[in-house]
Amino acid sequence: VGQENINTNIVTLTRYLNEEQTKYSEATGDFTLLCHALQFSFKSIAYYIRRASLINLSGLAGSANSTGDDQKKLDVIGNDLFIAAMRSCGRVRILVSEEEEEAIEFPAGPNAKYAVACDPIDGSSNLDAGVSVGTIFGIYKLSDDAKGTKEDLLRPGTDLVAAGFTMYGASAQLVMTMKGGPVNGFTMDDNLGEFILTHPDMRMPKKRSIYSCNEGNSKYWDVATREWCDTIKNAEKPYSARYIGSMVADAYRTLLYGGIFAYPADSKTPKGKLRILYECGPMAMIFEQAGGQAVDSNMARMLTVVPESIHDRSGIFLGSYDEVQLVIDIHKKHG
Ligand code: AHG
Ligand code: MN
Ligand code: MN
Ligand code: MN
Repeated sequence: VGQENINTNIVTLTRYLNEEQTKYSEATGDFTLLCHALQFSFKSIAYYIRRASLINLSGLAGSANSTGDDQKKLDVIGNDLFIAAMRSCGRVRILVSEEEEEAIEFPAGPNAKYAVACDPIDGSSNLDAGVSVGTIFGIYKLSDDAKGTKEDLLRPGTDLVAAGFTMYGASAQLVMTMKGGPVNGFTMDDNLGEFILTHPDMRMPKKRSIYSCNEGNSKYWDVATREWCDTIKNAEKPYSARYIGSMVADAYRTLLYGGIFAYPADSKTPKGKLRILYECGPMAMIFEQAGGQAVDSNMARMLTVVPESIHDRSGIFLGSYDEVQLVIDIHKKHG
């Protein structure tokens, strides 16, 4: 390789966060420190996921969480690693995790101005099959009069100051965005132990004939959703079906290739399956800021939906702008 091909101006996540901070004169560095703790939690979760079957960390923990999911050992480990990282950074006041029934309140330190929602291991039912799983997070800034209780998180996704996910695939891929900013993708270099900026300013294709949903539920879908699915399967050029069953993996592919991911609410799960605070909301922010759209099963903009409780669920259609618009137009026809 010629000398000129070596990139010596490497933008690590650490450098990116520090440079971002200098753009805001009022920045105190608290958000940056929170993101460094987040970064470490992804590194440590990736470490255990990649070794799970070697150190007997596969399989079930023998417990269930408050949303009724059976917890895998890695759900519990990932949750513990994430909580430790958030507690130790001293910048988080309150944390909601899929694996914790109640919100976790940290001491109200003077710098603890953030609320974090997380899904420590998303797609955990796939873990033992070696399929990509991930961690999803959303960050809210507390209002000055916040009490540091779970009510501080029962807000619309439009209030999110940052959101993202890390997919533990062939390499660990972090995708994150800050309010009003670009969506950036970082790839973990295991040798350096650093996330490297590899996908700056990710922009979704406006359309793509790929659909991603669990059609095993289609007999429970409403008429409009069934019509949408039939329409794309009988299109001039029928859509391709791609469904991994890990939202993070399906979302990452949809973000890169375009298409649509759908987990509709249906007669079996009227509120939907995916959780608003740590699955639908953060993903909706990412997709909107990459040029896509995200709506719930009532065709409301996902980021305007306010969860009634910290584990509240919603239906979701998430993807390329035109692909979600097609769902909206068909639902409008049905009134
Ligand atoms: P989690 O593993 O965090 O509980 O999330 C699982 C979710 C999501 O990752 C995925 O899109 C969906 O469950 C798959 O559900 P089905 O198996 O019902 O298709
Ligand atoms: Mn679960
Ligand atoms: Mn999940
Ligand atoms: Mn999970």
